[in-house]
Amino acid sequence: MAHSAEAAWERVTGLAREAGASAIRPLMADPSRAARFTRRAGDILVDLSKTSLSDTVLEALLELARAQGVLAARDAMARGEAINATEGRAVLHMALRGPRGAFRTGQEDASAEVHETLEAMRAFCARVHARGRFTDVVNIGIGGSDLGPQMAARALWRHGMPMRAHYLSNVDGHAWEAMRHGLDPARTLVLVASKTFTTAETMANAHLLRDWLRGALGEAEAGAHLVALSTNLKATREFGVPEEQVFGFRDWVGGRFSMWSAIGLSIALACGWDVFAALLAGARRMDEHFLSAPEAENLPLLMALAEVWHVDGLGYGSRAVLPYDERLARFPAHLQQVEMESLGKRVTLGGLPVPRATGPVVFGEPGTNAQHSFMQLLHQGTTPVPADIVLVARPDHGFEENHRELLANGLAQAEALLRGRDATEVRAEMEAKGMAPEAIEALLPHRLFPGDRPSTTLLLPHLDANTLGQLVALYEHKVFCLGALWSVNAFDQWGVELGKQLAGALLPELAPGAKAGAHDPSTTALIAEILRLRGG
Ligand code: F6P
Repeated sequence: MAHSAEAAWERVTGLAREAGASAIRPLMADPSRAARFTRRAGDILVDLSKTSLSDTVLEALLELARAQGVLAARDAMARGEAINATEGRAVLHMALRGPRGAFRTGQEDASAEVHETLEAMRAFCARVHARGRFTDVVNIGIGGSDLGPQMAARALWRHGMPMRAHYLSNVDGHAWEAMRHGLDPARTLVLVASKTFTTAETMANAHLLRDWLRGALGEAEAGAHLVALSTNLKATREFGVPEEQVFGFRDWVGGRFSMWSAIGLSIALACGWDVFAALLAGARRMDEHFLSAPEAENLPLLMALAEVWHVDGLGYGSRAVLPYDERLARFPAHLQQVEMESLGKRVTLGGLPVPRATGPVVFGEPGTNAQHSFMQLLHQGTTPVPADIVLVARPDHGFEENHRELLANGLAQAEALLRGRDATEVRAEMEAKGMAPEAIEALLPHRLFPGDRPSTTLLLPHLDANTLGQLVALYEHKVFCLGALWSVNAFDQWGVELGKQLAGALLPELAPGAKAGAHDPSTTALIAEILRLRGG
């Protein structure tokens, strides 16, 4: 690490060790704070004022970003350089939503192929919708080939839209068992979404549904119901997908960043092409901000710096994502993959141990549901958990009172985390209720809230395809910045490989009468017990 970067890290961690570094309430005495720590990009407002970022801390973090060369790394990504070094690949998901001619990899015009595929997808959607034969689309895929499209379709689908979308990801047959009864094979289009077209779970389900189609419609007709979304064109052909129903993309699209590619076809089929196009336009709007805004105004970078402050400065190892919009119910799940698969790394790009904590645990649920499950821990647990609270000002329903209540709850959570509740206030409340002094003293510690717990509020004017595209791209770019700040490769995922290999080796041992392999004693005993319970 360059000397200046080391010094910048020391400056940040040194500030975090100072007394009162995690306090937020004293900073709120500054009446200009809310305005000064609120930024906008596109339609999204992000309020970072309910964190303990002070002017001094922010300046130190910006210095760290400069020393780590975050914006220079961003430009290398945009130039199509092979920044995913462990896989020797460029990282060009921005090309998927960018204008023609904007992105290249080496000599190749990456944008040209993107626009060709988009046109083919658009024409396919138009044909499917015009014929009206298909009412349902089943997307078979897992990880990035499921979470992004599922999250977006759930957020954007409204009654009256062209088709119903279903997402089959888990190899657990119960998932298909629960889904299949509502589907008519004659009216169902099956998309096999897999970048590699080798993922075991996806291929198992693809065979299941191909058999289902063939059983009901015959082999010749079944082919017309199959669509493939993949980079592996040879495998899609071998699987029996008609060539004109294969939509490709390149290896410079990472799985968790692929909802903008052919992998997003289910969104376009279910919600209509215009919706998908608006989603891409929204993401492009955020790309333009990310590519042009200077450090101090760059929203993805500022969010990444707040995360560095929380994780490496203050030692907060997790973050909650709380969308106060039921349509964003799958947004935390999508972010779990985007963030944790990208940043769950312990060595630098150069292969050395990272000398500090990297990606936090990300989890979440929509508000207000979250308030009645895990928010207790955020308010009174031992370690603070920063929260991202996503609010949407205008709903798409007419139940105004519900929406006001929803917004009030989102705002109140952030306020409660910040303010806390001290002994004077709690005592006064209990005294007003006429409680006995001994009861008050016994209950007092349980009813105190420490406060000074950070949250970031993201405010959208309303939720539509364009603003959703902006929101998702904002987090994608935040992840990029964190990768650059921590010097890790945010675009590989070697950590998922070992489990895949061991599952492959274990699979034959679960067959009746199979020979046991060599395992640790715990696994050996569990296999024996499972076989006994299964009667084989
Ligand atoms: O196992 C992890 C992973 O490789 C993810 O990165 C990816 O999104 C998912 O599996 C699915 O991969 P594919 O699209 O190749 O089936």
